[in-house]
Amino acid sequence: MKFSKEFEERFQEMLTHYPTKRSVLVPTLLYAQDEVGFLSDEVIRELAGRLDLTELDVRNVISYYSMLTTRPRGRYNVQVCTNIACLLCGAEELMEHCEKKLGIGHKGTTGDGLFSLEEVECIGACSWAPAIQVNYDFHENLTPEKMDRVLEEYTKKAAQ
Ligand code: FES
Repeated sequence: MKFSKEFEERFQEMLTHYPTKRSVLVPTLLYAQDEVGFLSDEVIRELAGRLDLTELDVRNVISYYSMLTTRPRGRYNVQVCTNIACLLCGAEELMEHCEKKLGIGHKGTTGDGLFSLEEVECIGACSWAPAIQVNYDFHENLTPEKMDRVLEEYTKKAAQ
């Protein structure tokens, strides 16, 4: 499996920052996912080999973090937190609104590959509930109207 030169440089540098190879697994998975689009069987096999882990070790870590995926996603992955603080501030309605607006359900991807939608546990933005995360960006204090504007922004961004 071949990664970019940039990935290889980051990988080598990360190895110098931690006492064990295993410690670089999560950031390495994120970099690999950013580069490939998702964590394919090939990526998992490659990273397990490099870090002296079993593929099962790697899959266990992937299954723990909602930002990591073994399936292709849309260009913008919309994660709607429906944990307690967000739930009390309208997260369920927000999720339903997204489902209607995008025409997809939990873990779905729009036909044009632009958006994926996911219901997730707390994303650490409880003070600004209800909150969502789109790739690495947070959007907070949302209402269905504000949500529409957020989705429009990403649609415009993709068209640039
Ligand atoms: S409960 Fe939604 S961000 Fe914490």
